[in-house]
Amino acid sequence: MRLVHSVAALAGLTGSLVSAANSSLPIIKTEGNAFFDSESGERFYIRGVDYQPGGSSNLTDPLGSTDICKRDVPVFQDLGLNAVRVYTIDNTQDHSECMQMLAEAGIYVILDVNTPDSSISRSDPACSYNADYLQTVFATIDEFANYSNVLGFFAGNEVINDVNNTNSATYVKAVVRDMKKYMKARNYRAVPVGYSAADVSENVQLAAQYFNCGDDEDARVDMFGVNDYSWCGQSSFRTSGYSQKVQAYKNYSVPIFLSEFGCIKTKPRPFTEIGSIYSTQMSSVFSGGLVYEYSNEDNNYGLVDIESDTTVNKLTDYNNLKQQYQSTQNPSGDGGYSKDNSHSSCPSFEEGTWEANNTLPPMPSAASLFFSKGAGQPMGTGYPTQQMCDNANVSEYFTTSSSDDESSSTSASGKSSASSSSSSASQASSSGATSTSSTQSSSKSKGGAVGAVHVPLVFKAMVHIWNYVL
Ligand SMILES: *[C@@H]1O[C@H](CO)[C@@H](O)[C@H](O)[C@H]1NC(C)=O
Ligand SMILES: *[C@@H]1O[C@H](CO)[C@@H](O)[C@H](O)[C@H]1NC(C)=O
Ligand SMILES: *[C@@H]1O[C@H](CO)[C@@H](O)[C@H](O)[C@H]1NC(C)=O
Ligand SMILES: *[C@@H]1O[C@H](CO)[C@@H](O)[C@H](O)[C@H]1NC(C)=O
Ligand SMILES: *[C@@H]1O[C@H](CO)[C@@H](O)[C@H](O)[C@H]1NC(C)=O
Ligand SMILES: *[C@@H]1O[C@H](CO)[C@@H](O)[C@H](O)[C@H]1NC(C)=O
Ligand SMILES: *[C@@H]1O[C@H](CO)[C@@H](O)[C@H](O)[C@H]1NC(C)=O
Repeated sequence: MRLVHSVAALAGLTGSLVSAANSSLPIIKTEGNAFFDSESGERFYIRGVDYQPGGSSNLTDPLGSTDICKRDVPVFQDLGLNAVRVYTIDNTQDHSECMQMLAEAGIYVILDVNTPDSSISRSDPACSYNADYLQTVFATIDEFANYSNVLGFFAGNEVINDVNNTNSATYVKAVVRDMKKYMKARNYRAVPVGYSAADVSENVQLAAQYFNCGDDEDARVDMFGVNDYSWCGQSSFRTSGYSQKVQAYKNYSVPIFLSEFGCIKTKPRPFTEIGSIYSTQMSSVFSGGLVYEYSNEDNNYGLVDIESDTTVNKLTDYNNLKQQYQSTQNPSGDGGYSKDNSHSSCPSFEEGTWEANNTLPPMPSAASLFFSKGAGQPMGTGYPTQQMCDNANVSEYFTTSSSDDESSSTSASGKSSASSSSSSASQASSSGATSTSSTQSSSKSKGGAVGAVHVPLVFKAMVHIWNYVL
């Protein structure tokens, strides 16, 4: 990735920076409806937690802070995890130390590429799908695509969260397509791209079908996550409804997993679903999942209380989950996965039920510059693109003195970005919820140059922030 390139280039001159960011885990590949370790050939089941300490009310990039990683990565290891999902990162930060710590601990990352301010909006999805928005998505891909322990990217989380906003799926699917085409154009590894669906019983299966349908391979997801809170307390494979979901998704052609689970109707949670998820009851269709969530926030789903920058307090839920993981082995062999299911047929447009269009909008034309030059200067979390429609002047993202193709995409210049506090109230956090931004702070650019503010972009962001506040 860009950072690694520039570090390597510098090291050639100074001979002092060689050790940065160079540990690696085997890439996890998809084959049929399952994940496999590309080196050992073993089936890979996600044993993960959803990870966003601070939640959406105190948005923090947990992979951008060495202190936070030093505190949490050993806890992940103690718990027995092989993956975490992060909903929002700050693409201006340097993530190499945390990604290395995670890699050394054998832990993969599933990363949502949106921020509360930069995502598809449910109330105006067409406008929110614009070149400035795609720039933030692509800049996040630039930052993460080259870490071998990135398992996948989510193009959206719970954007469809009701019966009346299925039309937004059209634009999320366009983002899936653009992300996959972007990685090809930039010669990146084809990191799997997916969508994480809310458990809206009326349309979650239509969503799964829609994101996996059509003849354009680039527009189909490579993996699909379902957020599912149906197993509560001492439930069972049948009582929870898991058995029906195995039936419903058994023909699905790409890996499917529980991107959030862990009902809190019974507390402390016994996590008896672990025994079912990692058994042959599920393994032919599902590839594990992620417990919602690591840190205890206002909605009370936590496994640990964050006590300080250095300590966490492990709750009873934590100990129960750890015990369940320890006593549950993965199924042997390939778990009965399906290698050759074909992709879905597209659900037809039906007013009030499924209003996503099977003809996707073309990518905003201004964004095609990113395919040749990279995304340019990353804008961080508080960059509100939802109402920017198609007014982008993309040349503003390339502020460094003209240089060759590859290095002009690195953010050599510093910049300010506004950090946001978002008002998303759902269990998860970073989907298309409209949000308000109020605070502003400068953040350190990963090149280490602080303060070389690029006025036009910052001004643009501020105008939008004021629009929200007023
Ligand atoms: C990390 O860098 C060191 C020094 O350049 C090298 O010897 C080692 O092979 C690298 N490790 C990986 C996993 O790339
Ligand atoms: C927000 O998160 C930061 C970083 O983890 C922490 O230092 C701060 O105390 C938190 N603020 C609140 C109000 O919780
Ligand atoms: C969908 O319905 C909810 C009420 O159930 C409403 O708050 C929301 O604004 C509606 N969304 C759209 C996109 O119409
Ligand atoms: C990272 O980039 C280097 C140089 O382009 C490439 O050789 C390597 O395969 C990439 N690694 C991954 C994991 O994509
Ligand atoms: C799965 O595929 C089989 C064979 O094509 C078909 O008979 C069956 O109805 C499908 N099941 C579902 C749930 O789509
Ligand atoms: C679907 O998109 C196409 C192309 O943008 C448009 O012509 C058509 O009207 C849309 N259909 C619906 C039902 O919105
Ligand atoms: C676009 O931005 C560039 C770089 O800041 C600037 O030189 C150019 O005048 C801008 N174009 C328009 C049409 O605003």
